Amino acid sequence: MARLCWLPGDGVGPEVADEAQQVLATCAQARGWRLEFEPGLIGGASIEATGLPLTEPTLARARACDAVFKGPVGGPAWDHLRGEQRCEAGLLRLRKGLEVFANLRPAAVGPELVASSPLRPELIGAGIDILIVRELTGGIYFAEPKGRDGDRAVDTMAYSAAEVERLARVGFEAARLRRRRVTSVDKANVLESSRLWRDVVSRVAADYPDVVLEHQLVDSCAMLLVTRPAHFDVIVTENLFGDILSDEAGVLAGSLGMLPSASLGHPGRPGLYEPVHGAAPDIAGRGVANPIAAILSAALLLRYSLGRSDEARAVEGAVADALALGLRTADIAPAGHVPVSTQAMGSAVRTALAARLGR
Ligand code: IPM
Ligand code: MN
Repeated sequence: MARLCWLPGDGVGPEVADEAQQVLATCAQARGWRLEFEPGLIGGASIEATGLPLTEPTLARARACDAVFKGPVGGPAWDHLRGEQRCEAGLLRLRKGLEVFANLRPAAVGPELVASSPLRPELIGAGIDILIVRELTGGIYFAEPKGRDGDRAVDTMAYSAAEVERLARVGFEAARLRRRRVTSVDKANVLESSRLWRDVVSRVAADYPDVVLEHQLVDSCAMLLVTRPAHFDVIVTENLFGDILSDEAGVLAGSLGMLPSASLGHPGRPGLYEPVHGAAPDIAGRGVANPIAAILSAALLLRYSLGRSDEARAVEGAVADALALGLRTADIAPAGHVPVSTQAMGSAVRTALAARLGR
């Protein structure tokens, strides 16, 4: 039996998480395995109930499950909070507490989505398929000293060789299953931590002679992502650069509403699965949010935490089927196209999924 810690979060989180939950239930039913959801609170929802964005018992329950699904957090009601009180602090604590240091963010534009991408079709060419591997539990998000003293504030970007090495290995291993190209992104012309990053990644590359490694500076990488996106296969980069570049890559895929993520740590420990998009309070509760990022995150959960790659592929295929039928939520609907609701998209995916799973 699989036990999943289920943290829907804030804003559109509960709506999209619900569609993902039903997708997982469809798989379990069709393939005859047992699935249990352990619901919990994170972000604003947790602040309202407990005063904290993430409580110790919730973190302990998350650690004890097979995998954790998390929706987006935050909203105007909690924007005035500072430091450890903020919704984001709960999320960072969850990532750190689960030690999920490798954040996988795939961004793909297949033929169905060429019209939704802001890029000219000739730039997309035969398609874009990028995997960003973002370091998630170190760097400027966590390193000390960090803090504010009146008119002065400090954040520290620090990495150890061991942190860089374990992340780089995830990137090279992933590249072996793909097009065997790794682009390591840093700011080695300025930052000392980036010079360490570049040295360590180059050293790790020696263990992967079958993978082509290139180094890029983060500013030119940001440019190349929009001018030559098809060039990229796997991007490995530190926490903050990965945060920024993954939003950029997400827009290439038409909308951040399409972008799933998997955060992995030590083998045998629970992975964390989250859509990359935010809580979108402006559209929350209206049933118009795109559930695809959440559904594709559930597919990654099946693949990486439950070892059900066959069902993961079926879910990904079912999303493509729903898109091929012409269904579009508002964020990916071209002008003049009538958008469908969150639920309609979710149920179309599940219909296609049931067919793929042979029911
Ligand atoms: C993300 C988000 C988070 C991050 C925020 C909400 C803390 O932007 O998952 O990309 O910066 O990692
Ligand atoms: Mn982000």
